[in-house]
Amino acid sequence: MTSMNKVFADLPVTIFEAMSQAARDNNAINLGQGFPDDPGPEDIRRAAADAVLNGYNQYPSMMGLPELRQAIAAHYARWHQLDLDPMSEVMVTSGGTEALTSAILAVVEPGDEVICFQPVYDSYLPIIRQAGGIPKLVRLEPPHWRLSEEMLRSAFTPKTKAVLFNNPLNPAAVVYPREDLELLARFCHEFDAVAICDEVWEHVVFDGREHIPLITIPGMRDRTIKVGSAGKIFSLTGWKIGFVCAAPPLLRVAAKVHQFLTFTTAPNLQVAVAYGLGKSDDYFLSMRAELARSRDRLTAGLERLGF
Ligand SMILES: Cc1ncc(COP(=O)(O)O)c(C=O)c1O
Repeated sequence: MTSMNKVFADLPVTIFEAMSQAARDNNAINLGQGFPDDPGPEDIRRAAADAVLNGYNQYPSMMGLPELRQAIAAHYARWHQLDLDPMSEVMVTSGGTEALTSAILAVVEPGDEVICFQPVYDSYLPIIRQAGGIPKLVRLEPPHWRLSEEMLRSAFTPKTKAVLFNNPLNPAAVVYPREDLELLARFCHEFDAVAICDEVWEHVVFDGREHIPLITIPGMRDRTIKVGSAGKIFSLTGWKIGFVCAAPPLLRVAAKVHQFLTFTTAPNLQVAVAYGLGKSDDYFLSMRAELARSRDRLTAGLERLGF
């Protein structure tokens, strides 16, 4: 048998699929994969259906439909006072996963060190390794999972090319405070590193906490690649519409990777996501309140079971 690419051949079979199959077999609630139990906002699904019926079925622009890129820029301007140029600083991808892959392959070259924090989302390490990068794993400690000066000082070296930072953090559910972001920004500056920020859970924040994108921290605007996912924002996980936001020199290279990964993304779904991102603040706030109620219910149940 021909030898295969070891980065992927040696990976264990994906545990998510196994967990989901076990949940189906046992008629159990599936906590192994992020399956929302409601069908997603009806008006957004209708916007997608209308777009399928009324055109929007051919190859769209490689960078994403202009109306979606404008909606992404407007959304982040409204929520985070981030000033993005939709045409040179925003790209649409097929999910957050493709956005992350485009970002990693755009930045990492053989021998580069890439700092990743554990617990680590499963897609980062294989792609870093495929790029020839060397993951430097830094363990975050419960119960607070915070960053510290000492941990960053021991992780960053002159070979550090990038840091992969997931905020809010899956699965520990930390929403990083400004203090930690400023600390990380200081190290990125000192070591001239790019921050690839996986912020797909940006709207899932509870109890009055505020998600602060690292790209908004002073000094990070030109060295951050921000990744988002409409699947997570609207609980439409199968749609796989992601976004990359970055300064033009970073985005230009990520776009070249995207060109040869998927080239483009379903245009009808892009139209619907553009509509969804423009929904009022009330929509996003009540979605958070509803998820917080589910969180409270689960917590109460787990506590009754003695966890
Ligand atoms: C932390 C994190 N990053 C990225 C993704 C992938 O997002 P998408 O489904 O848009 O590819 C997920 C999905 O669960 C995630 O939890």
